Amino acid sequence: MSHDEFPTEHPAVVTCGLPYANGDLHIGHLRGYIGADAFSRALETLGQETAYVCGSDMHGTPVAVNAEQEGVDPEDFALEWHEQYEETFPQFNVEFDNYGHTHDATNTELTQEIVRTLDEEGYIYEKEIQVAYDPEADQYLPDRYVEGTCPYCGAKARGDECDEGCQRHLEPGEVEDPTSTITGNPAEYRERTHKFFEVSEFAEFLTDFLDGLEGTSNARNQPRQWIEDGLQDWCITRDMDWGIDYPTADGEDSVAPEEQREGGGEAADESDLVLYVWVDAPIEYISSSKQYTERVGADEYDWEQVWKGDGEIVHVIGRDIIQHHTIFWPAMLEGAGYNKPRGIAATGFITINGKGLSTSRNRAIWAKEYLEEGFHPDLLRYYLTTTGGLQQDVDFSWEAFQEKVNGELVGTVGNFWYRSLLFAYRNYEGTPDADVSAEVRERIEGAIGDARESVNDYDLRGIGRAATRLAQFGNEYIQRNEPWKLTDDEPEKAAQVIRDCVQIAKAIGVLLEPITPDKAQRLWEQLGENGAVADAHLEDALEAPPRRFEEPGELFGKIEDDRVAALTEKLEERVEAAAGDDESDDAETESDDTAADEAEGMTDTDDLEALADERIGFDDFQELDIRVGRIESAEGIEGADDLARLEVDIGFETRQVVAGIKQLHDLDELPGEKCILLTNMEKAELFGVESNGMILAAGEEADLLTTHGDAAVGEKVR
Ligand code: 2FM
Ligand code: ZN
Repeated sequence: MSHDEFPTEHPAVVTCGLPYANGDLHIGHLRGYIGADAFSRALETLGQETAYVCGSDMHGTPVAVNAEQEGVDPEDFALEWHEQYEETFPQFNVEFDNYGHTHDATNTELTQEIVRTLDEEGYIYEKEIQVAYDPEADQYLPDRYVEGTCPYCGAKARGDECDEGCQRHLEPGEVEDPTSTITGNPAEYRERTHKFFEVSEFAEFLTDFLDGLEGTSNARNQPRQWIEDGLQDWCITRDMDWGIDYPTADGEDSVAPEEQREGGGEAADESDLVLYVWVDAPIEYISSSKQYTERVGADEYDWEQVWKGDGEIVHVIGRDIIQHHTIFWPAMLEGAGYNKPRGIAATGFITINGKGLSTSRNRAIWAKEYLEEGFHPDLLRYYLTTTGGLQQDVDFSWEAFQEKVNGELVGTVGNFWYRSLLFAYRNYEGTPDADVSAEVRERIEGAIGDARESVNDYDLRGIGRAATRLAQFGNEYIQRNEPWKLTDDEPEKAAQVIRDCVQIAKAIGVLLEPITPDKAQRLWEQLGENGAVADAHLEDALEAPPRRFEEPGELFGKIEDDRVAALTEKLEERVEAAAGDDESDDAETESDDTAADEAEGMTDTDDLEALADERIGFDDFQELDIRVGRIESAEGIEGADDLARLEVDIGFETRQVVAGIKQLHDLDELPGEKCILLTNMEKAELFGVESNGMILAAGEEADLLTTHGDAAVGEKVR
């Protein structure tokens, strides 16, 4: 099923993965919350009715284990973190329409109601399974209480997820060689009765669902393999106290967990069990929407229309939780009579020096720390949303951050805003009386079109680019027309040019609002506009700004080299200390370390092609004309399963090349990426398309080679 383009007539909800209420937030978390916030704001600029909701994930072993380590009650522990998150998000201009938590009454009741419905519909059954047990601690070991080996890829894994390897969800009993994380002892497997949700019944539904799903290609494609491999039913209960009780059939309150445990009996009946955290967590998306409706009224936002009618549901998640959102969650929604998601956008990870962020190893840039450094939140928002495509991993460095900010925000956007508005203020006390030229109107319309297309493609970077490209044009336009030389001799022409520039400045503000909302608002005010730029729609970019405005101020400041050097040194020390921990503390694992091995590209050398014995001379190497290129376009070649046609700018010219990457990359994400091209390769024709060069890539997955510094397009690789 294909969807009508955004904006539609139906209300939308944008959500992002709930943070476990168990520790400080870092930039890895912020990428998702900021990304979803930007996407939700961007939908609103299109005129799409949208709510952005989320909440804290309070249950499960991620919270229970940390609370236990601190010797506090999990509820108190989680609530404290929840309150901190509520304070932190707005500091990054992440504005949820509702931010709840999974332990509140709305979510508890709705979760129990949904599970009861699934039960009544016949999708839940009981089964005896093997559950890890620690005899010394005299305790069952759900999820993070047990570690072992992933049966699918052999990586070290937690009880319910292969967090360091293939990222699969693991069912209780699946992890091999289980060890208790409580005592470090080998765990036993004991038989217990648990509740299962019949996910396998939904294979056909899920296949159709994926056919119509929008979002990033990782979320749309990865789950197909899991369906093809055969879906397993999903154990939805756990032997622990902390969580939402499995509902009783009659809807009566079940017995408090403390009382259930008094008998210490082995046979689990439903009143003994809490729901697996991954059941009640996504239901918070609905509960939070419901709370929003309860606050503003159904006339303003109707959660039932969204979740049970024709609403547009968009989830922004990390790529480690694709399975939960593309298999378990839509099956639950379907089974309980709810609407299915329209789009799922799964972000890549943030790494530092190629290694995954780690809370416990302090390998991170903390949200608080960033703010304490005095950087404006919009700078990080811009960096996180416009560096790399949404699904790419991004290696954070203060240098890269500085380059983005100084180059694009200060050098391009800020420079254009300030020089245009200052000139307008000094010469006309505001917007000169003139009409916007056809050239500029067309240019702004083009940028609006690009932004609209980017939103429909779930391409945050494209939204930012539409704004910065317009600013680039603005700088070029003002430079080309030199209004400062026209004011005396050709005042009308000067007024015309500045009128155009003020309009471009306003348009950039409207376009950038989703990404840098605070800076856009300040620009708005400098232009003398009333109200909030957040309420403006893309078309307002073409509306005339007020006639008068005050003297503008500069909106962005350069980040100095010495500041970056000091921050880099501090970060390097931290990363080194974390590397020491990695070596000395192999036993510790953490979900946000997941990118580490992938980023490091650790491979067993047995799997590698043998090194060549024969040596070549330097002259032979010199014969290869290898250049830095930038991909301008990429599209699949019709009829060829693997081939794509790329246009690559190599400075002197644009080359058409054919590459076997159709299945391995999201072609829509490639334009704008730097690549490395062997330019003096003999020409070839593949499927009727001439290939004039060879793009270099590594490994089976065709990992495209690129540069990590600022080598210009056309430069030779030596
Ligand atoms: O992986 C996590 O951090 C989970 N807390 C995400 C939950 S998202 C959802 F489904 F609610
Ligand atoms: Zn695995």
